[in-house]
Amino acid sequence: MSTKTIGVLTSGGDSPGMNAAIRAVVRTGIYHGNTIFGIKKGYEGMIKGDISEMNLSSVSNIIKQGGTSLLTARCKEFFTKEGRLKAYTNLKKYGITSLIVIGGDGSFRGLHEFISEFDIQGLGIPGTIDNDLYGTDYTIGFDTAINTALEAIDKIRDTATSHSRLFIIEVMGRDSGYIGLHTGIGGGAEEILIPETTSDIQRLCQKLKAGHKRGKQSSIIVVSEGDEAGNAFEIKKKIETLVDWDIRISVLGHQQRGGSPTAFDRLLASRLGYEAVCSVMNDEHDKMIGLIHNAPCLTPLEETWTKKKRVDKSIINMAEILAT
Ligand code: F6P
Repeated sequence: MSTKTIGVLTSGGDSPGMNAAIRAVVRTGIYHGNTIFGIKKGYEGMIKGDISEMNLSSVSNIIKQGGTSLLTARCKEFFTKEGRLKAYTNLKKYGITSLIVIGGDGSFRGLHEFISEFDIQGLGIPGTIDNDLYGTDYTIGFDTAINTALEAIDKIRDTATSHSRLFIIEVMGRDSGYIGLHTGIGGGAEEILIPETTSDIQRLCQKLKAGHKRGKQSSIIVVSEGDEAGNAFEIKKKIETLVDWDIRISVLGHQQRGGSPTAFDRLLASRLGYEAVCSVMNDEHDKMIGLIHNAPCLTPLEETWTKKKRVDKSIINMAEILAT
């Protein structure tokens, strides 16, 4: 293991637990004699030189906070060669030799490109509520996001039952149905629409009618924002002519990205932050640290977006059976 000067940043959409990961990187890094710099607002801060040294108390009391204390952004300028050169010049000014990036696949693509152009070591930590990264069973923030969504679904079920209504609840997940599937199962949804499956609206309506006939007082359809059948409003349009039911829509939106992280996310983020620093000190490079079957595992950065993490088919089948 050799000591380094490490820059840490969060990039892309924030996710609950990012602060716990930052804390673990800073505390583990300093414990092992490394120097740690915090870079504000993701790659934007690298380009602007918004960089400052962190100490043990820079990360005091952040483990329980949602969002990211380092702030985050989706930075267009980092896609340009000039932007990346500015970023590199700033890193050199502070003597930074290694970068730890907490984010999703877009952030990792940027990191991969950057470290293939310049002599900087790079390591990724998976932070996104979508849980859609190949190379880890769970991403930081997913567990909190599904618990937040579930709390909302439970509340909606109360009012849906009181009024005998059908609710279409849209959850996040641009290209991935993990949030939809897990909250749909947990919330006892009558139907779950996710991008990984084809939605048959006729069959869905027949199923809703059958449930109604059996005496169901409410029905909930959970739909991922990226579903091929459309968003909640488009789905409402498709089904309102086929069922005679009072329909309401609820789009849960960005509340799923906020809030204090769950115990699971705090532990996951702490483990990944700790392992990331150990990996950097062992000269691991161009990789993402994840947990597979509860053990730390390194995956080449490129595979995190070229390979697809598939939603488990057996869980989709189970959800179908339970939702009758
Ligand atoms: O990738 C995380 C995510 O929350 C997606 O689920 C969602 O589609 C997207 O970010 C929203 O991004 P923004 O905050 O830029 O609207």
